[in-house]
Amino acid sequence: MTSIPDQLSATFGGAFAALDLPADLGQVKESDRPELADYQCNGAMAAAKAAKKAPRAVAEAIVEHLKTAAPDLEIEIAGPGFMNIRLTPAFYATRANEIAADPRAGAGKVATPRTVMMDYGGPNVAKPMHVGHLRSSVIGDSLSRLFRFRGDQVISDIHLGDWGLQMGHLVTELQDEQPDLPYFDANFTGPYPSEAPVDIEDLARLYPQASAKAKSDEARMARSRAATAELQAGRPGYRALLRHFIEVSIAALKRDFGDLGVSFDLWKGESDVHDRIAPMVERFKAEGVTIQSDGAWIIPVAREDDKKELPPLILISSQGSALYATTDLATIEDRKVEQNPDLTLYVVDLGQSDHFEQVFRAAYKAGLGQEGAFEHIKFGTVNGPDGKRLRTRDGGTFRLADLIREARERAAARIDEAGLGAELSAEDKAEVARLVANAAIRFSDLSNYRTTNYIFDLERFISFEGKTGPYLLYQAVRVKSLMRKAKEKGLEPGAIQITAPEEAALVRRLDGFDGALQRAYDLRAPNHICEHAFALAQAFSSFYAACPILPEGDDAVRASRLALAKAMLDQLTLALSLIGMDIPERM
Ligand code: ARG
Repeated sequence: MTSIPDQLSATFGGAFAALDLPADLGQVKESDRPELADYQCNGAMAAAKAAKKAPRAVAEAIVEHLKTAAPDLEIEIAGPGFMNIRLTPAFYATRANEIAADPRAGAGKVATPRTVMMDYGGPNVAKPMHVGHLRSSVIGDSLSRLFRFRGDQVISDIHLGDWGLQMGHLVTELQDEQPDLPYFDANFTGPYPSEAPVDIEDLARLYPQASAKAKSDEARMARSRAATAELQAGRPGYRALLRHFIEVSIAALKRDFGDLGVSFDLWKGESDVHDRIAPMVERFKAEGVTIQSDGAWIIPVAREDDKKELPPLILISSQGSALYATTDLATIEDRKVEQNPDLTLYVVDLGQSDHFEQVFRAAYKAGLGQEGAFEHIKFGTVNGPDGKRLRTRDGGTFRLADLIREARERAAARIDEAGLGAELSAEDKAEVARLVANAAIRFSDLSNYRTTNYIFDLERFISFEGKTGPYLLYQAVRVKSLMRKAKEKGLEPGAIQITAPEEAALVRRLDGFDGALQRAYDLRAPNHICEHAFALAQAFSSFYAACPILPEGDDAVRASRLALAKAMLDQLTLALSLIGMDIPERM
């Protein structure tokens, strides 16, 4: 299974080598100018320069050589020595039949599979999730699907923020509301109730309440800090509360993420590595990884060639507490012991770039991984129509559950407006609305290169027209319905043959799948999958407009076109599944 550009590159490379020219100059890619050629090779110019010959003469010699080596290629020389290539219908047909028969729709696997840890989501217990967490989840989930599909062993971890000051806020605020609970009684000998004293709504209320009070009230802040320290030091009642808070939060998160189709293998949090911190810090001290500075323990991480000097990582503050970076280092150690990943990807907004650079360099210094074992997969912000970071109407951060609900309501309205789903039951219609809403949310996010900021515009994302998730679902559903109709008529797909340029163009797109997945994988950038899915749907539209399928009178041509349609549907289904989009049966 080799893509057309790879096959042609091998052929051209062979010709270059036969003429004593570097084989790697025989690279062939799709033509930038489809009206002139299908593929092109531009290596003659560089080869001529090295061999001190005229580029056109080099190109002529290559073409001459290929006349016997690859007689079915039609090659024309243009300009100074561009080689424009056209393929025969038979060439396209061979490749199309190969893709149609392949359960992976033409996509390859990595040569050496690795164990890859994916750290994404990262919501904080009690604090509402904001769109930054949504982006992280959607990008991280898609990368997990892609890496897994390409053969790596992927372990995903939500890495809950459950160990900071927010926990002290919750403990103290709950104490003010319900002082008689046994968790606050230092003399209580247990056991603590198994039922949580709060639900997710309580948590969502208690945290902002406490944090607002603490902002203007020093003494209130001091209580939260003290409670955080006591919790971290292991006070039993507070630890019991922490477990309740985490359980309640995880249940709500599982529901929200489940709605979006985002999943995690591990639901670990910062608090899970707490016991590793003290021994880790001792080791770092003994090995000289960390040094004392102004009462704090730091790890210097600046490098000679830094454009901007990176400040040292603070391992233990002068007040004696472990910080965000300390937990991340302990988590790296934990993962090394538990899963021993070859590579860890952190899908976190680019505002945390310095933090991760510090953590990675410190980890390399401490022997927790080889240079390159950790990558920060950065992403930009989601903005409102005013171009500023997205907020809700009252200025607060977005809650994921609200966003999902709103997307579904709008999707349902759009489906009605578009006159779709008329013959569906209310239940099926709600399911279609869920899939359309997810498609809208996921595709609009993933179709931008991840570091690009984008404006959140639900109305546009949910449209069935343009480059949107719902458009792609709609195209896929149309092909599904075509396949159903064919079946009802007793028509089966057959061997693919090429009878029209639109068919060849569709095969070129089908052939581009592997390259798109490779790019998405190498650059950790799911937008290349989105690009491919959209281009594929467009190529299919042109094909479908030019080439009748069910009404076609020639049996062999009709069966061939059905097979092309099926190959496109199979590949589109796969591509969309890597973005996390499921296709409804009807809509
Ligand atoms: N909880 C963090 C936040 O909300 C994100 C966690 C990212 N992952 C990590 N390993 N630090 O900003």
